[in-house]
Amino acid sequence: MVENDSDSGGLDPVDWEEFRADARRMLEASIDQLQQVAEHPWQQVPETVKAGYGVQALGQSAADMVTRITQDVLPYHGGNIHPKFWGWVQGSGLASDLIAGMAAAVINANTGGRDHGANYMERAVIDWTRQKMGMPEGSNGVLVSGTSQATVIAFQAARVRVLPELRKTGQGAVRLTAYAGAGIHNATIKALELLGIGANNLRLVPLVEGQMDLAALRRQLAADRAAGALPFLLVGMAGSVDLGTYDDLNGLADLAKDEDLWLHVDGAFGAWTRIAEEPWRSLSDGIGRAHSIALDFHKWMYVGYDCGLVLIADEVAHRAAFAARPSYLEAAERGLAGGDPWFCDYGIDLSRGNRALKIWTALEMYGEAALGAAITDNCRLAGVMAQAVEARPDMRLAAPVVSNVCVFTARDDLAPEAQSVLNSEIAQSLQESGEAVFSTTRVRGVVMLRAAITNHRSRASDIQAGIAAVARLAQGG
Ligand SMILES: Cc1ncc(COP(=O)(O)O)c(C=O)c1O
Repeated sequence: MVENDSDSGGLDPVDWEEFRADARRMLEASIDQLQQVAEHPWQQVPETVKAGYGVQALGQSAADMVTRITQDVLPYHGGNIHPKFWGWVQGSGLASDLIAGMAAAVINANTGGRDHGANYMERAVIDWTRQKMGMPEGSNGVLVSGTSQATVIAFQAARVRVLPELRKTGQGAVRLTAYAGAGIHNATIKALELLGIGANNLRLVPLVEGQMDLAALRRQLAADRAAGALPFLLVGMAGSVDLGTYDDLNGLADLAKDEDLWLHVDGAFGAWTRIAEEPWRSLSDGIGRAHSIALDFHKWMYVGYDCGLVLIADEVAHRAAFAARPSYLEAAERGLAGGDPWFCDYGIDLSRGNRALKIWTALEMYGEAALGAAITDNCRLAGVMAQAVEARPDMRLAAPVVSNVCVFTARDDLAPEAQSVLNSEIAQSLQESGEAVFSTTRVRGVVMLRAAITNHRSRASDIQAGIAAVARLAQGG
C-alpha cells in the first residue's frame, strides 16, 4: 500500500460540486459582461485595485477567486470589446472564444508536436486559410502569437533560402538587404533587427498613391547589387497600419520573380479582405503569389488574443529554417510520439498553446459568410466615418479611405502644431470619458485621429456618435 498517497490532496478540487457552482458563477458573470458590452468601456484601474493584484499566494477558495476576478479583473479590460473602440488595430473578440476557451483550458494541449487532436485541427485551420489566401496546395504554416512573430519566422525562412548554411555558420559578412514601402509596420523593422540583418539594411521605397513605386524599387535593387549587397526580401503591404492601403501585390509578385526575391506580405489585418465583398476583396488580389504571408486572426477575424499565422508556400524552405529533433524529441512510428510533422519544426516555440480551437470554433460557428460580412461592414463603416468627417467644415481627412482605416484632423483651420495638440487631447478625453476610442498617428507632421475599424460590434450609429463627440470637443465642448 502506498502511504501518504493523497495527503496533500493535490491541486484539483476536493468538492467537485462546489467547484462546478463556482465555475458556473464565473461563466454567468462573463456572459453578463459580454451581453452588456456597450456598458463596459475602458476605464482606468483604481489604485486600490492595482494594489490588490499584488501576489500573496496564500491559497484561496475558488469561490473567493470568482468574486475577486468578477470585481477586480473583468471591469478593467483594454476596451477593445466595446462597440466604439477603433484605436490601433485591435480585434473585438467573439462569444465563441468563451466556448473554445473552456475546452482549451481543460485539455491544456501542448501543440509543439506529437499525435493529438489539436495538431490535426491546426493543420485544418491553416489549410482553410491557405485556400482563402489563394496559396498553392502543399503550402505550409504555423499558428503564432501574432504578425510580429510570424514576420520573424518568414524572414528567417527567406534568409536560409539564400544562405543555406546560415544555421551553422551565421550570416558572416554577407550584407543582406530587404525592401518595403515607406510606412511599413514596425514588425518588419523589428524582425530585421532581431535577425541581425539590421534596420539600416531595409530600404524604404517611396510610395505613389499609397503603393510602392516599382520603378524606384528596381533602381534601388540595381544600386544595392552594384554596391555588393545581396537583396533577398521584398515586403508588400496588404493593409498598411497608418492608412489601410495596399501595395499592388501582383506587381510585386512579378517583380520578385524577375529579381529572385522572396516576397513576403504583411497582411496582419488586411489579408482578410479575401473574404469580403467587392470592391474591398480585390485590394488583396495577388496575395496568394507571395512566398510568405503574415496575418492575424485576432484583428480582423475577431478571434480572441493571441492568434496569428505565418503561411509559407515552400514547406521545404520552411522546415529547413527551423527543424531540429534532438534525441528527446525523436518521432515514433506509433503512439503519442507519432503524428509527424510537428509544429516545433516550423517556428520558434517548442511548447505551444492551442490556438487552433478558438479559430476553428469561430469558423464553424459563424461561417465564412458572416465573418466576411462583418469585414465588409467594417469597410463600409470607415466610409460612413469619412462622410461624417467631410460633412463638418473644420474636419479634414488625411487621405481617402481605402479599406477600414479613417484618419482625420478635428480642426483643419488651426496651425499644424495646434492641430496636433488638439487631436491628442481629444483622443485622450474620449478614452477617459468612455465615449469612444480613437488612437492617433502622425500624417505630414500632424498628429491626427485614427480609427481602424476591426470591430464587429460597431454600427453606423456608433460611428456617428463618435464623430459627434469629436466635433463637440473640437469646438471646446
Ligand atoms: C499592418 C500590421 N502589421 C503588423 C502588425 C503587428 O501585428 P501583431 O500585433 O499581431 O504582432 C500590425 C499590428 O497592428 C499591423 O497593423
